[in-house]
Amino acid sequence: MKTLPATGQAWTEIETALEAAKARDYSWKQGRMAVFFYYLDEELERVQKQAYLAYFTENNLGQRAFPSLAKLERDVVEMSLSLMHAAPGAGGTFTSGGSESIFLAMLAARERAGRARPNIVLPATAHLTFDRAAWYLGIAVRRVPVGAGFAAAVPAMEAAMDADTIALVGSAPCYPYGIIDDITALGALAARRGIWLHVDACVGGFLSPFLERMGHALTPWDFRVPGVTSISADIHKHGMAAKGASLLLVADDALRAHHRFESAAWARGPYVAYTSQGTRPGGAVAAAWAVMHHLGEAGYIRAARRIMDAKARLMAGIAATGAFDVQTPAPHAIFTFTPKDPALDTGRIAAAMDARGWLPGRMADGRGMHMHLNPIHDTVVEDYLRHLGESVAEAREGLRESAAVGRVY
Ligand SMILES: Cc1ncc(COP(=O)(O)O)c(C=O)c1O
Repeated sequence: MKTLPATGQAWTEIETALEAAKARDYSWKQGRMAVFFYYLDEELERVQKQAYLAYFTENNLGQRAFPSLAKLERDVVEMSLSLMHAAPGAGGTFTSGGSESIFLAMLAARERAGRARPNIVLPATAHLTFDRAAWYLGIAVRRVPVGAGFAAAVPAMEAAMDADTIALVGSAPCYPYGIIDDITALGALAARRGIWLHVDACVGGFLSPFLERMGHALTPWDFRVPGVTSISADIHKHGMAAKGASLLLVADDALRAHHRFESAAWARGPYVAYTSQGTRPGGAVAAAWAVMHHLGEAGYIRAARRIMDAKARLMAGIAATGAFDVQTPAPHAIFTFTPKDPALDTGRIAAAMDARGWLPGRMADGRGMHMHLNPIHDTVVEDYLRHLGESVAEAREGLRESAAVGRVY
C-alpha cells in the first residue's frame, strides 16, 4: 500500500512524476476521444486556468466573506437565463456538475409534490443520473421506450404516469443519440397534470442557443416552451468552462426553496445551502464567468461552427467507407454509426482504433459507435478517417481480439 512520504518533495520532482503519470492517458488535446472532455484552444485554456487561479482559495460557501463571488455567480445565472429565454422572475443555482443539477431538480420536485411514494417518468434515453438521483432520494423510476427517431414517446409516457408521478423528464438532447425530445408535448402534459417538467440540457444548454443563431431549426427545448419547470445546463460541457460548473435553472425563483436546506440546530448559528456541497470552489465560478465573457456569443458561435464542420466531414467520410450506416437525425454534436454487415465486428474495429491511440465510444448494443464532438475534432478528421479505414480492414481480416463494450461508457 502507498504511504505518505516521510519528507516533502520539491515541485520539480512532483511535476515530473505527474507528467509521467499521464503518459499512458489518451490524448484529449489531440482530440483522440469523443467523450469526457471539452477543448477549444490554448487561449481559452489559459483564460480558464488564470480565472480559476484568481479565485483558487476562495470558498463560495462563504459569500458573506466573498461578495464578489455572489456577484459573479449571479452574472453567470442571469446570462444563462437570458440565453435560455427565461421570463422575469426565473432563477438559478450554480452547481458542481450535471449530476448535482439533476439531483437538486428531482429533490425540489419531490419536496413540492409531497407524495409518500413518488415516481418519475422519463424516456429510456435520459441520462442514468436520473436513476442515481432517484436512488438517493427514494423515488421510483419509470423508463419508457422511445419512439421513432429515438425521441421520447409522449403518449407512452403519459400511460406510465399515475397520481404519484412527481416529474416528467425530457432531454435536450439525450446523450446516446443527440436527439431533443418533444419538449412542447411534454410541457403540455406536465401542465395538464400539474407536475414538474425537467429538461436535461446538460449537454446541449450551451450549444443549442448558438446552433439556433447559426440557422439550425432545433426542436423547441427551453423556457419558451410552456410547462418547462427547470433546465439543467452544464457550463463545463459546451459552455467550455473549467470542470465543476453547471446550473439548475428554474422558471420561477420561488421553486428554489424546494431544494434549500436551512437549520440552526447546532451551536454555530444558522446554516443555509441550496446545493449538496458545503465548501464550494470559487475558482469554478470565476472560470465560468471568465470563459463566458471571453467567448461572448461570437466565440460560442465560432466553436459551434467548428463542431458542426467536423461532424459533417466525419459523417460524410464514415458514410463513404461504405461499411457503416450513420445515424444523424439531429443537428447536434452527437452521432452514432453502425456496421452495415452484421459479420463486421465493432469490437474488433474498436480494438484497432484503440491500438492507434483513440478511445472508442461504444453503444450498449455492442454494434454502434458513438461520437460526441467538440471543436478540437475539426483538426483530426482526416487522421480519424484514415485510422477507421485501416481498422475496418483489420477487423475484416480478423487481426485483433474483439474488445468488449466495457464496463464504463
Ligand atoms: C445529458 C446529460 N445529462 C447529465 C449528465 C451528467 O453530467 P455530469 O457528468 O456533469 O454530472 C451528462 C453527462 O454527460 C449528460 O450527457
